[in-house]
Amino acid sequence: MHSKKIFSILGLGIMVAIMSHCKKDTISPEPVKYDTTRYTLPIGTFPSPDFEDNIPTNAGVLLGRMLFYEKLLSKNNTQSCASCHLQSHGFTDTARFSLGVEGKRGDRQAMSVFNTAWHTTGFFWDGRSTLLRHQSLMPIQDPLEMNETLDNVVTKLSTKREYRDQFLRAFGNSEINAEKISLAMEQFMNSIISNQSKYDKFLAGAGTLSDSEERGRKLFFTEYNEFFPAQSGADCAHCHGGFNFSNNAYRNNGLDLASDIIDIGREKVTQNPADKGKFKVTSLRNIALTAPYMHDGRFGTLEEVIEHYNSGIKSSPSLDPALQATISTGLRLTAQNKADLVAFLHTLTDNTLATDSRYANPHQ
Ligand code: HEC
Ligand code: HEC
Repeated sequence: MHSKKIFSILGLGIMVAIMSHCKKDTISPEPVKYDTTRYTLPIGTFPSPDFEDNIPTNAGVLLGRMLFYEKLLSKNNTQSCASCHLQSHGFTDTARFSLGVEGKRGDRQAMSVFNTAWHTTGFFWDGRSTLLRHQSLMPIQDPLEMNETLDNVVTKLSTKREYRDQFLRAFGNSEINAEKISLAMEQFMNSIISNQSKYDKFLAGAGTLSDSEERGRKLFFTEYNEFFPAQSGADCAHCHGGFNFSNNAYRNNGLDLASDIIDIGREKVTQNPADKGKFKVTSLRNIALTAPYMHDGRFGTLEEVIEHYNSGIKSSPSLDPALQATISTGLRLTAQNKADLVAFLHTLTDNTLATDSRYANPHQ
């Protein structure tokens, strides 16, 4: 009886092992051969992205997605990119400071990852990485994040048949190396496109905004006017303009007085003191999903962010002139104005992004 039971447990274990093995190997049912079929980017009315090379293919995007969700990329195999970049939150983290693989904390808030195909001026809050393919290898090796060597990652992935097969489909041979890993992750991240918000539907004539959202929209796009308060707006589009709600620039938005700036931001990259305290102007698409806010996650809510721009701008030599101009009066927003701006920002949420199976974990 007793040994029979052990055998049946063993048998069950083997069956489960075989089943999960089969499941992994069928991650892509495509034949194992080089496949250069282009990935169709759902760009809608966005301009065509300017890829010089590394144009996304179906096989490359799937490989990048497998890697983005792969815990073997971290030292103790417990953390993937998706651990800090959650699809349900516009591919950012809900924690103010993400915990790395060894429980260590960085001092910046994770950034959202979508519409990267149109980020033309670099990656990270300070833009220290020019190309997304280079960026993608940095968290792996960062001691505060995944803390693993690229050699180890290559060794670990090379033992897996599903990876050898997918590298072959994507790049023509099954050899795994860091360059191919970086190109595949760039392809996957560039495939994540967000353009299905309520505001997009409004622009396409397929939906309307509520009165509050419409008033918020006007405030967002209208310039600040010190002399005619009645016609003055919040001028958010000055920096968060264009189809992706970002001018792709680095700016100081008045978070701290010069003497209080701890993280010097862009200055660290350019070595130019005029860039002290400048950070990447992030897209405001999906902003209602991506709290907390700013490079150090100091604001927990959109209301706090709006109050910052309304009455909290701190002066320093690198402060953006458009915000400097508002310092003496503030934006003079009423409680209703502030609520309207928040309502408008909520229209930038793309609920399909949070659930789109094309961007979800392929390992389950
Ligand atoms: C421990 C949490 C953590 C992990 C794991 C992590 N990231 Fe990040 N990510 C961050 C943080 C924090 C930042 C901002 C860092 C900075 O600016 O210095 C960031 C920034 C980024 C950006 C920049 C976005 C922009 O708009 O400039 C991209 C892209 C990105 N990560 C992709 C990845 C990829 C790919 C992986 C896996 C290889 C990964 N991340 C793993 C926390 C993480
Ligand atoms: C002068 C340029 C500029 C203007 C004008 C501006 N912003 Fe920003 N905004 C930035 C920069 C730069 C950041 C990132 C700053 C940082 O993290 O240090 C930012 C960050 C934000 C964030 C947080 C983004 C994130 O990913 O955490 C929100 C929300 C935001 N701005 C909303 C607004 C609103 C609403 C307005 C109008 C009231 C506005 N901004 C006006 C430059 C600007």
